[in-house]
Amino acid sequence: MPVRTWFPTQIYCEPLQPTGLEKLNASLREECRQLREFDTAGRRWSEKNYPGGYTSYASMNELHRFSSTFTVLEKKLLRHARAFAKTLELDLRGRKIFMTDCWVNIMPPAAAHSLHLHPLAFISGTYYVATPEGCPGLKFEDPRLDRFMAAPPRRTDAKPMHRAHITYPAVAGNVILFESWLRHEVVANRVDAERISISFNFNWS
Ligand code: NI
Repeated sequence: MPVRTWFPTQIYCEPLQPTGLEKLNASLREECRQLREFDTAGRRWSEKNYPGGYTSYASMNELHRFSSTFTVLEKKLLRHARAFAKTLELDLRGRKIFMTDCWVNIMPPAAAHSLHLHPLAFISGTYYVATPEGCPGLKFEDPRLDRFMAAPPRRTDAKPMHRAHITYPAVAGNVILFESWLRHEVVANRVDAERISISFNFNWS
């Protein structure tokens, strides 16, 4: 083949651990809901900025420092982030990867999260705690989308790697990692149950 592929956009998806996910998710589920009860400032912020849902993004966004359950999760996620950084062949110059932010997202029916990226980080991701059947996945956008200008659209039967969007299903117990500049969104939750996830950022220093 005369054509080769360069400049890949890589997305990591793995179960957090081989066993014990149900037990861990049961305690995380409870803790996420307790947090929503307790976090008045977060609920107020969410009313304006996260319609229909709850996020602790602007109020309690260092959960790995305050809750032992989240500290355990942080350690596990760090291993995945290191593996991802290795795949990306990043030269960390002897510095360490560390979690800067960690927050909860609860999406009841109809809640959505529009396109965004994660500033002030290099690896970001989500861990799924509760994913009722049929709930929306994580939709990523081709980072070159704004440069296509006059290019014709892709054929509808194009290979997934040639499409402008890719959606990873939300699966409880899975970790998804991506480079923080990659835009993504969660479309509206159409099922009659809460979708719960924990999002986080990593930096290096
Ligand atoms: Ni995000």
